[in-house]
Amino acid sequence: MSWIREETPPDENTWSERFRKFCADVLKTGPIPKHVAFIMDGNRRFARKKGMDRTEGHLMGFEKLAETLKWCRDLGINEVTVYAFSIENFKRSKEEVESLMEIARQKFARLLEEKEAIMKHGVCIRVLGNLTLLPLDIQRSIAEAMRMSKDNDKAFLNVCFAYTSRHEISNAVEEMAEGVEKGLIRPSDISESLLDRCLYTSHSPDPHLLVRTSGEVRLSDFLLWQSSFSVLSFMEVLWPEFSFWHLCAAVLHYQKNHQAIMRARDQHNQEREQALRQADYDSAVAELQQEDPDKTDQSKWASLPTLVRKQETERDQRVREFLQHLDRKRAKFLDSLVQKTE
Ligand code: FPP
Ligand code: MG
Repeated sequence: MSWIREETPPDENTWSERFRKFCADVLKTGPIPKHVAFIMDGNRRFARKKGMDRTEGHLMGFEKLAETLKWCRDLGINEVTVYAFSIENFKRSKEEVESLMEIARQKFARLLEEKEAIMKHGVCIRVLGNLTLLPLDIQRSIAEAMRMSKDNDKAFLNVCFAYTSRHEISNAVEEMAEGVEKGLIRPSDISESLLDRCLYTSHSPDPHLLVRTSGEVRLSDFLLWQSSFSVLSFMEVLWPEFSFWHLCAAVLHYQKNHQAIMRARDQHNQEREQALRQADYDSAVAELQQEDPDKTDQSKWASLPTLVRKQETERDQRVREFLQHLDRKRAKFLDSLVQKTE
């Protein structure tokens, strides 16, 4: 089945669909989270409950994902990130890993066949994780799907696959260390905001709302860095049974907590800015102290504000070029995957 669910023509709308639309319109009078992340948990418990095999549970899980994407679109949520396969999931039985890979193989291939609908809806698809852990043919389909949709900007779908947050954060740290080693950035350029921009999620805002189904109340190594200021909704429902009404309940929960979270987030952003300014000031002072010792103290310190501005401009320039280098490196990696043969 397909990733993109199309609109029902207005003359075929049932009463229940009209009622859903009415409720969505009411919900939209309040703040809507622009980015929602889902830990789609409970597929196997659902399969057990219904006497199905596990693979069928995961397939139902995929159907629910496609349905949920449509509900998000209807509510004006334009970015969704899902946890589809964790690096930890490789420890499951060989049969289950193989069947999940087979689902991924089919679904990512299907994504390429749905190019027209994806371009029509302007969906940018990103698959985030350690792609090198995946079978080559899946890596190739993923790379093609990402390249095909990279310039779309109406909606964003991030599929975390072969992903854990710890891997993502260590990868970002390695990138920064390499940047220092190559002389692209200085150790003093390393900051929270730079790490943010080295994560796989660098092109997305942090999720406003994170939903986990199945009653588990952990993050399981998902978006640990990015979810500090997200509203968390842990729901008792198994993922294949998730409904539009569960999504509405999670959005209501977000609306109730929205103001307090925004306040905390804004304060944190101000503190970050302050820390950057302090780092520029400290570098300027260090530079002044090494300068010509003959200069009188007074004339030295008079040039401090100019020097602070210079530090800021130079840091911005180094960081910009480093991030462009990282983007090019990641794009080149995707290109190499498309061309790779078994
Ligand atoms: C968690 O339920 C679900 C997964 C590990 C797999 C999720 C995969 C899909 C929904 C298919 C999506 C595929 C693509 C390509 C996007 P669980 O297996 O942990 O179930 P349990 O908690 O009941 O044991
Ligand atoms: Mg589980």
